[in-house]
Parts: sequence; C-alpha cells; structure tokens
Amino acid sequence: ALAQARIEVHADAPTHTIAPEIYGQFLEHVGTQPYGGIWVGEDSEIPNTDGIRNDVFDALKALEVPVVRWPGGCFADLYHWQDGIGPEAERPLRVNMVWGGTPETNAFGTHEFFDFAERLGAKTYLNVNLGTGTAKEAADWLEYITAETGDRAAEREENGRATPWKVDYLSIGNETWGCGGHFTAETYADLYSQYASFAKTAGEQPVRIISGAHDGNPEYADTILQHPYIDDLAEGISLHVYTLPTGDWGKKGPATGFPEAEWASTMKRTLRMADVIADQRAIFEEHELPADEFGLYVDEWGMWVDQDEDTNPPALYQQGSIRDAVVAGLNLNIFHENADVVRMTNIAQMVNVLQAMILTDGPDMVLTPTYHVFEMYKPFMGAEALDLDIQSPDYTYADVTVPAISVSAALTEEGKIVLAVVNASARDNHLVDASAFGASTAIGRILQGKTMDAHNTFEDPNRVHPVPYRTEGSGGDLILSVPPRSVLVVTLE
Ligand code: AHR
Repeated sequence: ALAQARIEVHADAPTHTIAPEIYGQFLEHVGTQPYGGIWVGEDSEIPNTDGIRNDVFDALKALEVPVVRWPGGCFADLYHWQDGIGPEAERPLRVNMVWGGTPETNAFGTHEFFDFAERLGAKTYLNVNLGTGTAKEAADWLEYITAETGDRAAEREENGRATPWKVDYLSIGNETWGCGGHFTAETYADLYSQYASFAKTAGEQPVRIISGAHDGNPEYADTILQHPYIDDLAEGISLHVYTLPTGDWGKKGPATGFPEAEWASTMKRTLRMADVIADQRAIFEEHELPADEFGLYVDEWGMWVDQDEDTNPPALYQQGSIRDAVVAGLNLNIFHENADVVRMTNIAQMVNVLQAMILTDGPDMVLTPTYHVFEMYKPFMGAEALDLDIQSPDYTYADVTVPAISVSAALTEEGKIVLAVVNASARDNHLVDASAFGASTAIGRILQGKTMDAHNTFEDPNRVHPVPYRTEGSGGDLILSVPPRSVLVVTLE
C-alpha cells in the first residue's frame, strides 16, 4: 500500500533535550482536588498513607511525575500559607472563594504538599501569593520551607519536619492580567521585581518564573520584559494556553456527545500552541534572551470543556475522552519540537480538575485516556528530540482543515529511537512511512477510541487503554498503519 504520510529525518541537525519537566503536573485547590482526589486524611476508610490515598498515589508514581505545581492557579493569590501548618485540628476553616465557595479545611498544606512531592520523587513548583499577600509573607514562607536554622526552622521541626525541603521552581503571582489582580504589565513587573528581590531560599535557589501571557495577549510578556531589572531576577516566564472546543468561554462545548465539528475545531484550536510558542520565542529574541538562559514555562495547558452538569459543587470536573488523549499527544509533540526553549509544562490539572490524569468518586478511581498518553510517552522524558519534517495528509471537516498526522521522534539514553504518531483524523486510517529511520521493526503500544468521545467510567474503567502494536518492515521500508483517533508510541529496532 502507498503511504499517505512521510517522515523525513534531519540527521545532521542538532538535537535538543526534552526536559523531563515537560511532563509536569498542576495541583490547585479546586473542586475535589486535593480534598477527596488526593488527600483523604489518615482516618479515612479509603486506604491511605499519611492521609494521601494509595490508589491515586500509586497511579501517579507509575507516571514518574517530574514536577508538581501548587497551590494554584487563581487559588494561589488567596492562599495564606500560615493557615496550612501546625496541628490539623487547629488549622482554620476557610472558604475557597475562588472556586465555588467549597470548604477549605487547610488539611493539605505545606507539609502535606512537600511530603507528597518527596514521596512521589517529583520536583516542587511553588506559586506564591502576590494578589492578596505581601513580599514578606512570601519571603517568610520560603524561609519556613528551606531554612536550616532559626525560629522558622524550629517551628517547622515542631510541626514534624526537621530537614528542610527544596523549592525547585518559584512563581510570583498567577495570571496577573486576570484573576491574579488585573495588573498592567508595567505594575506587575515592578511588583515581581520587589517580591523576587526578597524571595530567597536557604541552599540552592529556585528557578524563578515570571507570570506571563496567555494565548490572547502575547504583548503582556513583551511589556514585562521591558522592565529594566526583571531579567536579572528571573530565569523564565510562563504561558497559559487552554483548548476550548468552540473557543467560546460562555459555551465551551461538552466533554462527551459532541459533533464532529467540535472534534475538528478542537484539533485546529489546540494546534495553535505551536504559533503561540513561536510568538513568545520571537519576544525572547527581541529582548536578547538566549534560549539556553531564559526559558518558557507553559505552566497551564489542556482541554477546558463545559463542566459536567451533574457535578455540583466539584468545580471544573470534566470527563476525559480519546479526544483529550489526541490533544495531549499533539501538544507533547509540539513541546518536544520546541524543547530548546520550553523547559517545563504543567497540564491542567492532575486529579479531578479539567484535563485530569485521574478521576475519583469516593473510593473509586479511574484513569483517563490522557493518563495513558503520559504513561506511553515516558521514554521521551530526558531524550534527545530529533529534527523532522512531516508530510501529512489533511483532515478536513466543513471549513476546518488540519494535518491529520503529527510525529515526534527522539533518541533515548539507551540509544533507541522512540516515535510518537498521533492521528487527529476523526475518520481516516493513515499509513505513515517511517523508513527514513532505517529500522526494520516498530514495537510499542497504541491508544485508540472506537468513537470520538470514547472514555473510561467507574463502571467500565478499561474501555480506552493502550494495546500492543508491532509492525515489521520489508525491503528497507517501514510503514505504520495508524487508525483514526489514535496515539501510537513505538520503539524502532
Ligand atoms: O486551571 C484553572 C484556572 O485556569 C487556574 O486557576 C487559572 O490560573 C486559569 O485561569
């Protein structure tokens, strides 16, 4: 059969390392994350270790989560860390005024987060409060977490932790053009510089990340970077890009049961990630910030659909389908391609919120198709991305046309080539010519949906799961058959 898509490899072009942190997660206090989804408390009937539920923890452990961002998001700018330390019974009961007025018991606080990340083997990404906090509050928090000596270290020890923790990444404020305070870029740049000047940790300093633009306001980052001192006080800037099927915040479109028009518009909208990154890259160049010194941190991205109607109050709880899995694959491929400047990304979010890895309902847990993509893509973490050219057939629906096939390839530490192929077509199988790699066998797994909204439920948790895939080449050719609505990850031999 004649291949419809062809991969060309630029074997002489430089590779760039795919930072493992591109596979980062985001844990905000929204809905049933953390309460219920991660934290159940030591007295819960749900099996747990120090209050963290075991089933969710084990599933996350298997993903080798490299980094977790906490505590927000918009929540970060209303969070006061002192509320979340000390004996649990004495912590104040607050109301999560940002997300639906749910109770905030503060049971999951600094100790619980840092212990959780440590047990997971994940780096920590702390987002401090700029909106309703002070530079002193932020500085005190960093001292409490990282100091070896002094009264704050003693207080930390009294609360159960003698050894300091490490803050690997630090952001000051969140969406400062919106929920984080509606600051002009100039004002935020001043505030950032003030906070960053005092945001010191004991030991190794964290990577400091400015809260930057979203896909609709790239110039926000440009203006911030005009500040005379800021680039001495930061190692990077963030970017937020969500995929809404319709593009309309008022009516984003449902998680399941959507028409093909919304499958197609989702693909088109999510592929804009490449252009949005290119805009930021151009801004860095304009400000003479070399990619090896100043990074782009896509610390919120993913699918945002209308909240499930029968979920109230769990805010931002949505079902995840094969459409989400395809979106994940497309974005990860884009991040690999831009791994010279994209240092970390944090999909929004980890458990029970937006494009989650895991959904829970009381004691039940289910892995989403997106979870399986992250699990299948693990060999890309830390691998060297190869420079490719892809000739792809189109996927067209009504007035929307996008390339059907997206490919990423990388050289792993073991010297193997790993290949990810995403078929974004809702309808067509495609043959992908991978002969350029000079391999004769492709072995791995494929994730496919029988329908556009195929998803897992608590009753039927394995409807969408990866299955083995193997293709042998012949006569020097290696042709992969890739069904519609699928994500394929193979190692070439
Ligand atoms: O991820 C949900 C919310 O989306 C975050 O709190 C906020 O930063 C963004 O608007």
